[in-house]
Amino acid sequence: MLEIGSGTGQHTVMFAKALPGIHWQPSDLPATHSGMRAWINEAELANVGDPLALDVNKKQEWPRQQFDLIYSANTLHIMPKTTVAALFALAPSVMRPGASMFIYGPFKENGQHSSDSNRTFDACLRATDPVHGIRDINWLKRLASDARLHLIENIAMPNNNCLLVWQRMEAS
Ligand SMILES: C[S@@+](CC[C@H](N)C(=O)[O-])C[C@H]1O[C@@H](n2cnc3c(N)ncnc32)[C@H](O)[C@@H]1O
Repeated sequence: MLEIGSGTGQHTVMFAKALPGIHWQPSDLPATHSGMRAWINEAELANVGDPLALDVNKKQEWPRQQFDLIYSANTLHIMPKTTVAALFALAPSVMRPGASMFIYGPFKENGQHSSDSNRTFDACLRATDPVHGIRDINWLKRLASDARLHLIENIAMPNNNCLLVWQRMEAS
């Protein structure tokens, strides 16, 4: 599992503990690494790698390895749209055929927020920096289609979040 935008590493540690059969490879911008290492080192888990420096905009920073799974939580509304587009364009290069990518967070669909709280959150994000904002699933589907990724599940999660599951299509 390659995790993108691991942040503090809290999800890394929680999932790696719960899923000892999966090797968890966290990654993020280097500024996050010392805090993330504090969480990871304290947990002393054999199935977690040292954080990778991965800015998804930078093709050269994507690992050469191929993964069965990608996971990224609460990142798409923080990343500018160009960065989200880079993530979708470059993710397939590290996915084995048939691999899945799990994207968690708040999303819009057909321009509509799923709750008033998400609408308020979106306004707060944009007020902080106009490049932030809750993304529309239909736009993500267009990016995914260009990258030969297919949305196979949209799972409703607590507090008006969703888990979007994308699968890399086999080459035809
Ligand atoms: C709101 S935090 C989410 C952290 C963690 N996944 C969580 O859910 O707690 C957004 C994360 O996206 C990362 N991020 C922003 N731009 C990025 C980029 N270009 N490449 C990789 N990660 C990026 C940030 O460094 C930050 O850790």
